[in-house]
Amino acid sequence: MAPLSQLGLLASLAAVLSCSLAAALNAPKIHARVLDGPEALNKSYDYVIIGGGTAGLTVGDRLSEDGKTTVLVIENGELANSDEINNVRDRVSWNAEPWWLYNITSAPNKELENLESTVYIANVVGGSSALNGMQCVRGTTDDYDRWGSFFGNGSTWSWNGILPYFKKGLHFQPPSEEAVDQMPGIKYDEFYWGTTSRLYAGWPSFQWPGIKYQFEVFTELPGVEVPKDSGAGQTGVYWYPTFMDAEGSVNRSYARTGHWDNLNRANYDLITESKVTKIELDGNKATGVVFRPSEVDGEGVEFTTVKANKEVILSAGTIHSPQLLQLSGIGPRKLLESAGIEPKVELPGVGQNFHDHTTLHFEIKFRNYSIHPNRRDDFEDPDFIAWADELWDANRTGPWSRALWNTGAWLGLPVVAPEAYESIAAKVDAQNAADYLPTSSDPTVIAGYQARLASLAEAIRSSDNIFYSHYFSGDEPVNYFTYEHPLSLGTVNINISAPESEPIVDYRTYSNPVDFDIMLELARFHRRINVESPLLAQFDPVETSPGLNVTSREDWVAYMRHNTEPTAMHPTGTCAMMPLELGGVVDEQLRVYGVKGLRVVDASVMSVIVGVNLAGTVFAIAEKGADLIKNGSE
Ligand SMILES: Cc1cc2nc3c(=O)[nH]c(=O)nc-3n(C[C@H](O)[C@H](O)[C@H](O)COP(=O)(O)OP(=O)(O)OC[C@H]3O[C@@H](n4cnc5c(N)ncnc54)[C@H](O)[C@@H]3O)c2cc1C
Ligand SMILES: *[C@@H]1O[C@H](CO)[C@@H](O)[C@H](O)[C@H]1NC(C)=O
Ligand SMILES: *[C@@H]1O[C@H](CO)[C@@H](O)[C@H](O)[C@H]1NC(C)=O
Ligand SMILES: *[C@@H]1O[C@H](CO)[C@@H](O)[C@H](O)[C@H]1NC(C)=O
Ligand SMILES: *[C@@H]1O[C@H](CO)[C@@H](O)[C@H](O)[C@H]1NC(C)=O
Ligand SMILES: *[C@@H]1O[C@H](CO)[C@@H](O)[C@H](O)[C@H]1NC(C)=O
Ligand SMILES: *[C@@H]1O[C@H](CO)[C@@H](O)[C@H](O)[C@H]1NC(C)=O
Ligand SMILES: *[C@@H]1O[C@H](CO)[C@@H](O)[C@H](O)[C@H]1NC(C)=O
Ligand SMILES: *[C@@H]1O[C@H](CO)[C@@H](O)[C@H](O)[C@H]1NC(C)=O
Repeated sequence: MAPLSQLGLLASLAAVLSCSLAAALNAPKIHARVLDGPEALNKSYDYVIIGGGTAGLTVGDRLSEDGKTTVLVIENGELANSDEINNVRDRVSWNAEPWWLYNITSAPNKELENLESTVYIANVVGGSSALNGMQCVRGTTDDYDRWGSFFGNGSTWSWNGILPYFKKGLHFQPPSEEAVDQMPGIKYDEFYWGTTSRLYAGWPSFQWPGIKYQFEVFTELPGVEVPKDSGAGQTGVYWYPTFMDAEGSVNRSYARTGHWDNLNRANYDLITESKVTKIELDGNKATGVVFRPSEVDGEGVEFTTVKANKEVILSAGTIHSPQLLQLSGIGPRKLLESAGIEPKVELPGVGQNFHDHTTLHFEIKFRNYSIHPNRRDDFEDPDFIAWADELWDANRTGPWSRALWNTGAWLGLPVVAPEAYESIAAKVDAQNAADYLPTSSDPTVIAGYQARLASLAEAIRSSDNIFYSHYFSGDEPVNYFTYEHPLSLGTVNINISAPESEPIVDYRTYSNPVDFDIMLELARFHRRINVESPLLAQFDPVETSPGLNVTSREDWVAYMRHNTEPTAMHPTGTCAMMPLELGGVVDEQLRVYGVKGLRVVDASVMSVIVGVNLAGTVFAIAEKGADLIKNGSE
């Protein structure tokens, strides 16, 4: 998550500049082969992976690690050898080159006064893990047990089933003594982590002293704990690691550094700046993919077909994976027909069930700056900057080693809204799913939503499910909080008048009106804790937005309609792993229903979003997915 206004500004510049092939040529020498162009391709590969992002590179590494299995990854973005991506100090999200982001604006959001908002996803080798906020959080046991619950008992998609893949996927670097000294209340337990991956989860050596007050305010609440580890699967208040190599370079650790750099495998190729336009089917078997150069449009574009001997793996992310299925004739029949695409496999769930975390803008200022230990105006204070620069240059310590945030509260509704949660859950139980979906929705998609609502009603009643989260910043309070389990579902569908242009991203925020009820409780709680708590009173907080005059439900809802961000940059759900009769797109082996030799492995397979930032979960899904592919049948 990054300051939205700044990212928006950068995204709007995206088309002004175009990327160059030069980047690929300047690449370091030790890695899987980077192809200069399609003429360098082999005729076929065992596996062809679409998308060299967070999941795609993880799967590519695992499938090729035997040195024999041949793998090709096709990535739309460039191979960016850039300090901006490596450098923790720059916290790249808002220094990103505009061409590293797709240029997508959402459909008008009805309940948000027709807001059209920027859809943030990355277009670069490493995918969104190259640009994200580097926060490494895990979610609760229920988040993972829920996925399997839709398949009945005994699914391996469960907390116990995925924990080994979190351990395999993340190399834990315990905080330094220097760090622990500055982090009162930090708890960690190495049981929940591994030490073999080249993808690192580490801690900065510096903390803002003021965070301890925020930590204290939340831990004083009845029912709130500091779990023994941030990855223990519990709600509460915790310090969590940052995706960085804290014991080594103190650089960002992401899909590229963890799963591609230094591999040097003759059986593994990567082609960049190449856009896949279609998955080829022979009957109901995926045989290969078609791609073209990403930046060339119009007449004379050359298309290349590459064959997959074993499987095609779709890892293009939540926005583009469903688009590619639909372009290939796999999706809702009526939609495909209206776009002039021959339906080959009717699969009504493709592109449905789209959701994300939402955030509410909420601005608080601490007026008594003189005593606040982490004054924001420090950032303009030359003495502070000189001191911070010196530490960073000396040994990569100090404030610039902090990346983004690594402390926060992750809480369930019984804690946030003890008086209201039961009536909210009862309301959800009474809902008829069809009332809140697009009218064209298939009965199986509706049945899937009904099952999700039943599961979420239980989640509302449980303190083991995260609904509210707030990061502790240590300077000014972060100017929003996050709603971690919205009920509303949107869609990502091809544009029927231009199917190969960007798909239509329709968030449908608040299309389920209970989301207003829940957001209202979260907002009232946020004010109670951050503005009205006695402990923070010494800093003289003032709520500048919405302001204390906003108290009635009516005024809150009006405020929400103008101040909700439909995305926390965590899109998911569009190729959901659910039973077919519940509108699922992939089965428990991540195989696309009705197609042989085709799986989806990326953030889109989550049937219900987890209550935290997604990258750690995507890495674990990819690790598990790679094992399923190695061990499973087509
Ligand atoms: C700005 C930002 C900040 C975030 N902050 C955090 C955070 O702090 N912590 C956290 O845990 N999560 C965070 N997230 C979310 C997290 O990074 C993503 O959920 C996760 O990386 C998604 O992984 P993925 O593999 O599904 O997709 P991606 O990593 O996005 O990979 C998809 C890849 O497919 C490529 N592709 C798409 N279409 C095609 C095509 N047709 N042909 C070829 N290639 C194609 C794309 O270019 C991309 O490289 C953030 C995300 C963003 C964007
Ligand atoms: C983004 O896309 C819009 C609509 O297609 C276009 O008008 C605009 O110029 C593009 N902007 C950038 C920065 O590419
Ligand atoms: C770490 O990042 C810096 C840029 O900030 C880069 O110069 C350096 O090579 C990187 N180190 C490693 C080991 O990748
Ligand atoms: C799962 O197991 C529980 C308890 O063992 C049982 O009550 C429930 O009916 C089972 N559900 C399914 C779908 O088999
Ligand atoms: C491409 O083909 C060559 C020659 O057969 C082979 O040596 C190489 O390993 C292949 N590379 C990949 C990535 O399949
Ligand atoms: C880093 O450098 C600073 C300034 O030279 C020094 O005070 C500090 O002890 C060093 N820290 C470590 C961990 O080496
Ligand atoms: C769909 O594509 C058409 C043709 O390019 C374009 O004019 C239209 O704006 C697109 N629709 C949306 C919602 O993006
Ligand atoms: C501001 O901080 C000072 C120093 O701790 C304290 O004495 C004073 O009471 C605070 N002012 C307010 C308005 O809280
Ligand atoms: C609250 O006060 C602000 C600032 O005076 C004003 O702009 C806003 O409209 C008020 N809101 C309500 C609901 O009264």
